[in-house]
Amino acid sequence: MKIVLIGAGNLAGHLGPALKKNGHSIEMVYSRSKGSAKKLAANLKCAFTSKVTDLPTEADLYLLALPDHVIPGFLKELSFIPACIAHTSGSVELSVFRTRFKNCGVFYPLQTFSKNRKVDFKNIPICLEASNPKTLALLKKAAAISKNVVRMNSAKRKKVHLTAVIVNNFPNLLFSLADDLLKEEKLNLDLLRPLILETALKVQNNPPFQMQTGPARRGDAETLKSHRKLLSDNKTVKDIYNLLSKTIENKYGPLL
Ligand SMILES: NC(=O)c1ccc[n+]([C@@H]2O[C@H](COP(=O)([O-])OP(=O)(O)OC[C@H]3O[C@@H](n4cnc5c(N)ncnc54)[C@H](OP(=O)(O)O)[C@@H]3O)[C@@H](O)[C@H]2O)c1
Repeated sequence: MKIVLIGAGNLAGHLGPALKKNGHSIEMVYSRSKGSAKKLAANLKCAFTSKVTDLPTEADLYLLALPDHVIPGFLKELSFIPACIAHTSGSVELSVFRTRFKNCGVFYPLQTFSKNRKVDFKNIPICLEASNPKTLALLKKAAAISKNVVRMNSAKRKKVHLTAVIVNNFPNLLFSLADDLLKEEKLNLDLLRPLILETALKVQNNPPFQMQTGPARRGDAETLKSHRKLLSDNKTVKDIYNLLSKTIENKYGPLL
């Protein structure tokens, strides 16, 4: 099918090539700046623009990969009604399209995308929502890049997005804080990389609740106290440490 990609950022940079590889024709890439549109378009060997008024009007699907807060303004700028339009956000409701766009939907890939990382869409869940069966059928064609396509309404998707933030964005911040602490000792994050990997791998086949370890889980008050002392000059990390340790203690209760 003929697809116009609206956006040339982290997600569009992965989605475009995956859709093309699956036999779809990327008609044009739009981005706010000409430079990023041109770069992705060169990779996809297609046209590009930074002007909404230059968009072709006859494509089958217009896929929006724009920052969430930008979507409503972009839709207002669109002077024609596309055959089908979908956004890719985890948290923006389908109702953003309101009544103006009859064939509209959501195409939310549940993964973290960064420009310099390779991803395999086959294993990435794609959450679909559509305003009608015809749109759903069309979005399913595009979502065939994945083996894991899930239909989900806006309320459920928002909750899923919240969990995605919890499992991805928060641990990543903790990795970064740990990296800073290691640097204070002139040590490298390489020391922790096997541990980070094992933490993620073990929950692939086990419930996270059963995999919890550490001083708070063991009720080891001495170690908790000595860690807090190490963080006496670092209020931010100390607050996070205390909150997470307390949460573990509350979740598991006193040791028998
Ligand atoms: N990245 C992820 O991990 C991920 C995962 C799942 C879903 N999503 C969803 O995908 C969508 C795009 O996210 P992203 O991470 O790909 O974003 P991004 O890397 O920041 O790229 C955003 C794109 O939108 C353009 N843009 C930025 N600000 C704009 C503005 N004020 N007006 C018009 N265009 C603007 C950028 O243009 P220029 O580069 O030309 O400035 C770029 O083409 C979001 O809805 C997000 O929720 C992202």
